[in-house]
Amino acid sequence: MAFPLIGRKKTTIGLDVGSGLVKACVVEHGKGGPELVKVAIVPLIADAIVEGEVMDPGMVTDAIREVIAAAAVKNPTIVTAVGGRDVIIKKIQIERVKEQQARELMRWEAEQHVPFDMESVELDFNILDPEGVAPSMDVLLVAAKRDLIEGKMRLLTDAGLSPQVVDVDAFALHNAFELSYPDAMRGVVGLLNVGHEVTNINVLDDGIPILTRDIGVGTKSFREDLQRDRGLGAEEAAQVVQGYDRSPELDATIENRGEEIAMGIERATAFLATNSRASGQLRAVYVCGGGARIPGLVEALGARLRMPVELATPLTNLRVRDGALDPLLTDDVAPLLMLPVGLALRIVP
Ligand SMILES: Nc1ncnc2c1ncn2[C@@H]1O[C@H](COP(=O)(O)OP(=O)(O)OP(=O)(O)O)[C@@H](O)[C@H]1O
Ligand SMILES: [Mg+2]
Repeated sequence: MAFPLIGRKKTTIGLDVGSGLVKACVVEHGKGGPELVKVAIVPLIADAIVEGEVMDPGMVTDAIREVIAAAAVKNPTIVTAVGGRDVIIKKIQIERVKEQQARELMRWEAEQHVPFDMESVELDFNILDPEGVAPSMDVLLVAAKRDLIEGKMRLLTDAGLSPQVVDVDAFALHNAFELSYPDAMRGVVGLLNVGHEVTNINVLDDGIPILTRDIGVGTKSFREDLQRDRGLGAEEAAQVVQGYDRSPELDATIENRGEEIAMGIERATAFLATNSRASGQLRAVYVCGGGARIPGLVEALGARLRMPVELATPLTNLRVRDGALDPLLTDDVAPLLMLPVGLALRIVP
């Protein structure tokens, strides 16, 4: 599911333009399956992207140029993605029809389900049970505001690159997650990506992304709490958040922000209690993103939600070429790579 343009290559660069870090993962798609061959990460200066909006396009395109140069691939096929509130993913049911006819029905369906002006969106869909025989079929409908896609493409073209595919964040996360955690494709689970500014909550029902929500909590909120409430300097706060050991300085912010995240998950999954079509209640949560590394956060969420909550990385089932992460340390960065790895897993035809 994507908005394809052009391209033919078996090396894909997944480019994740985050508000804190711009990340590129290079995956080679050979006979032996996907292999991660290079990872590059470039920090963005503070406030270059705020609330998903690019405030300083020059800084962002510089970081993109730098990260793609570090990825060192000739004529790269670049896959990037859009997400946030201007992307809507919805599982709907329609009468069982052929793909072509479903395509024609989608615009009408979208008008019922998507609160955007139809003139300004790109639509895509995926039939979830194409082999089914029931009179109705489940379809995953995706609508993204055209402005958002064009804005993303413009960033890349300004950096002298041509993106071949603009994917959807939630699907890319899901792809990487599916590869690394096949067991999580059973029942209802949550995938949490705690970034710099935003936490994405993705709810999967038997592996199908049925809901995605963003909440405005990320490592930036934890750092600001430490600065404001504990009087730490910016550098010091960043180190505590990225540290290996749980500092007592973190207690209050983990309590408060953990509660915010836990409530976000509870709200996102509240509908399950009354939804007879879902396969059950939320049974586990997997956490990735820079915030997953905050010492003690994963454990605090587990205690609060009273269910298994686990740190997730995209590397548990992926071949990694020797030196692919150099000079980065695998444990430091692996949880941050779920989205760019998911993007790079796409083979662009
Ligand atoms: N090894 C690391 N290197 C740099 N930052 C790290 C590291 N580990 C954790 N962090 C923290 O994670 C944050 C970045 O996380 P991530 O890459 O998931 O966010 P992002 O994708 O840039 O942001 P968002 O998705 O909210 O736009 C950094 O701002 C920092 O606080
Ligand atoms: Mg991110």
